[in-house]
Amino acid sequence: MVSVAILGAAGGIGQPLSLLLKMNPHVTRLSLYDLVNVPGVAADVSHINTNSSVESHLDKQNLGAALAGIDIVIIPAGVPRKPGMTRDDLFNINAGIVRTLAEAIADHCPAAIIGVISNPVNSTVPIAAEVLKARGVYNPKRLFGITSLDVVRASRFVRDIKPSVDAAALRIPVVGGHSGATIVPLLSQAEPRVEFSQKEIEELTHRIQFGGDEVVQAKAGAGSATLSMAYAAARFTESLIRAISGEDVVEPAFVSLDADPRGAENIRALGAGSLEFFAVPVQLGREGVKRIAPVPSITPFERKAIEVASGELQKNISKGVSFTQKAK
Ligand code: NAI
Repeated sequence: MVSVAILGAAGGIGQPLSLLLKMNPHVTRLSLYDLVNVPGVAADVSHINTNSSVESHLDKQNLGAALAGIDIVIIPAGVPRKPGMTRDDLFNINAGIVRTLAEAIADHCPAAIIGVISNPVNSTVPIAAEVLKARGVYNPKRLFGITSLDVVRASRFVRDIKPSVDAAALRIPVVGGHSGATIVPLLSQAEPRVEFSQKEIEELTHRIQFGGDEVVQAKAGAGSATLSMAYAAARFTESLIRAISGEDVVEPAFVSLDADPRGAENIRALGAGSLEFFAVPVQLGREGVKRIAPVPSITPFERKAIEVASGELQKNISKGVSFTQKAK
């Protein structure tokens, strides 16, 4: 019995994500919320013959009803990138959207696990944290920035140059953040192990960091990744659901390192320093973050990349925090 709400359900990500979660047999209630078009999306998806109920909640006055009794909230609400934009360029619009939605979550389902997709994730997750802290309901174990698409891309891009690799089975931890140079794939930690030349490592790292741009450019103004993102978010949600039912599952995500201070020591030593948020491999459990999984060792190339990522991330995190402070 798991209730999932999607905020921004009528959008490019929201629609295929609604479809994929309607097909998940563990979801019993699917609550769809948007400012536009959500009645049509909900009616359409509701005809799929799985057992979950589907609800349509249109407009802000129905946000409370969309969230009441919800276990997991996934947030893809917000504007996507156009060619030439970075994720940070989305800040001004999406920061306000995430703040409003986090306030409603604090009021209507404060114990829910939250997965933020809206970019820039490096700043929108700190915004959500600050809102929840201000309302006295913050639990760092329950707030996630969804970075699964970076992990999905990493395994697929490796397959492009190593045709003997099974893309679906390959696991590559991606740490740091979720934009450009803050995305740090740890190719040395691939499971199963894959051998790369230094040139391959450099090219793959760059492609994983800027893979989103390939989609933005190919869509030529019509948005950013939606289908692969919906797949990645559905996979993350499925992992959360498996964890709620008692399974141990590891998924990388952008979380507060306060969620597991002991587990975070290892990540801090690798270059995260005193940063509050970092994408790390997370062992999920009933509470959300059960443990930050250790990263055994990294190469000098990866350490350098983490250093670069950390400098950029600090600015992104501070930008989110000061947005909520200015708004007070
Ligand atoms: P979209 O524009 O197609 O859909 C966004 C939806 O959000 C629209 O239906 C819109 O009506 C809705 N919305 C806007 N303000 C809202 C509010 N206050 N409450 C509820 N709904 C609201 O955009 P798309 O392509 O679905 O992207 C959504 C977000 O996801 C963007 O910020 C994008 O940058 C981000 N994204 C994140 C990725 C990640 O890896 N975390 C990957 C790809 C996109």
